[in-house]
Amino acid sequence: MVGTKKIQMVDLKGQYLKIKNEVDAGIQEVINTTAFINGPAVKEFQSDLEKYLGVKHVIPCANGTDALQIAMMALGLKPGDEVITASFTYVATAEVIELLGLTPVLVDVDPLTFNIDVKQVEKNITPKTRAIVPVHLFGQCADMEQLQAIAKKHNLYIIEDVAQAIGADYTFSDGREVKAGTIGDVGCTSFFPSKNLGCYGDGGAMYTNNDELAAKLRMIAHHGQRVQYVHDVVGVNSRLDTIQAAVLKVKLSHLDEYAAARNKVATHYDNAFNGHPKLVIPARNKNSTHVFHQYTLQVTGADRNVLREKLAEKGIASMIYYPIPLHMQKAFASDRFKKGDFPVTEKLCSCVLSLPMHTELDNESLNYITDSVLELIK
Ligand SMILES: Cc1ncc(COP(=O)(O)O)c(C=O)c1O
Repeated sequence: MVGTKKIQMVDLKGQYLKIKNEVDAGIQEVINTTAFINGPAVKEFQSDLEKYLGVKHVIPCANGTDALQIAMMALGLKPGDEVITASFTYVATAEVIELLGLTPVLVDVDPLTFNIDVKQVEKNITPKTRAIVPVHLFGQCADMEQLQAIAKKHNLYIIEDVAQAIGADYTFSDGREVKAGTIGDVGCTSFFPSKNLGCYGDGGAMYTNNDELAAKLRMIAHHGQRVQYVHDVVGVNSRLDTIQAAVLKVKLSHLDEYAAARNKVATHYDNAFNGHPKLVIPARNKNSTHVFHQYTLQVTGADRNVLREKLAEKGIASMIYYPIPLHMQKAFASDRFKKGDFPVTEKLCSCVLSLPMHTELDNESLNYITDSVLELIK
């Protein structure tokens, strides 16, 4: 608590107040023109995002989960096909794999970067494997160069789950720098309000450089039709609302500032906690910038849950992303997984703690957070 103010994980209101005039005008314009579905702001945002990402096609849709599902449908993945993904991720990644009757093949993660352990990916490839879904968890890219080499060697698709890492840059060993989500066959992102580029409701998008695939993604997101009332395949209804696109258009122009503000917070936390015997700070992948969707500590020498409760008593929010590994969730119970199969993920679920991370944190709040954490784990 700074004064009487609690410190939340995100501060969407504070962020909104700084861009209120632009956002309000954008929303009002949609209402004035009643262009609620596929209005001009959707195309404008799509085109702005294509330029920002340096990608040929952005296909907006209703949310990040739909983006992943539509990507798998458009790539023609069929029941029984195996899809490799990280065992330490948000449920949506694995959920859509199951939902489409595909087989999720989970792979453990690197204990320091939290991203998929590339060495284990290749070991899990079988004749049924069709795709790899790396998740750029907490805001930095997985080892895409190595994953791309594996995918090429085994003729697999890559679907990047970039819900948490929009705007991160990945640098290949030849010096080529590209945006997260534009490396694989398709990138799938979420504009959930608390995401780095969040709208004021639900939203999502897919990115690709492949013209044919872009047309399929667009068709599937639009009831499987290219021409109105002519349905070539069974699709879904997944649109980005025009009001959300109007908000995103404004926020996209601030995205790099937002990433810089988040990095400033991360540096403050790093400086306070680096080398502490009871804490492990999040490691950086040397090939990726980090946009810090989350700043996630590992609490190794103290009780993480007690620390969380004590922080809450001091008015400081914190979150556990994620408390239960996917393979130990009832929804994914299968004779293919058992406790102990993914030791890194299981350990992380027992010790990770994400601290407040947003664009509006001032030095007073940051000092209060870091002093409180250090005091409570003394
Ligand atoms: C890693 C990851 N994948 C997918 C999603 C799904 O996005 P949405 O909530 O927009 O469906 C999220 C967001 O919550 C996420 O964090």
